[in-house]
Amino acid sequence: MKIDILTLFPEIALAPLGDSIIRRAQDAGIVEVCGHNLRDWSEDKHRRVDDSPCGGGPGMVLQPGPLHAAITALKKENTRVILMTPQGAPLKQARVRELSGENHLLIVCGHYEGVDHRIVERLIHEEISIGDYVLTNGAIAAAVLCDAVIRLLPGALGDSQSAVEESFSDPNLLEAPCYTRPIDFMGMKVPDVLLSGNHAKIEVWRREKALERTRQIRPDLSENA
Ligand code: ADE
Repeated sequence: MKIDILTLFPEIALAPLGDSIIRRAQDAGIVEVCGHNLRDWSEDKHRRVDDSPCGGGPGMVLQPGPLHAAITALKKENTRVILMTPQGAPLKQARVRELSGENHLLIVCGHYEGVDHRIVERLIHEEISIGDYVLTNGAIAAAVLCDAVIRLLPGALGDSQSAVEESFSDPNLLEAPCYTRPIDFMGMKVPDVLLSGNHAKIEVWRREKALERTRQIRPDLSENA
């Protein structure tokens, strides 16, 4: 897979992808991630890429010119063009899984008040939000999307089962709590069932705990669990 990130802050988008599992996936040739500075497509002598919103109001809007030039230069025939914006569809693991099957993602990062809407209509395939809160810029959101997608690429995770058994593989169920040694930590014990060696009983316990935690923490999900 190839991922291009178009942003005013390539270093912010790339920094979280430079270590650990995601770094190793790049080193192994599983994915190639490139950051691109939108200012490189500005025709302004000060490398300006924004202007005030038509109709008034606070903040600045990314101009269509540099975005159009950059996106058309970076996209190929099979590219999925994604805009990171708080106005997008909330990102879910099911969509992450689908995106991990694409050949080429071009992730465009919004900034300031947003992106001139003519670009959204003409060149963006989908708008994605990573949650109902507003970040200073989309580069952080792009890094989140990249991490979530890359770890699902074949060979990226050491133990491929860990991508299957975790939270949101069943999108309506959180994972059961987990424990490791020591068995007694400051008087708090690991639940006996997990030490029993009885795998059928352990599975039942995990399922019950998963349902219990989902009801407590994500009542919105538990309606469908
Ligand atoms: N840019 C700013 N906030 C965002 C969010 N919540 N999701 C995606 N992009 C964003």
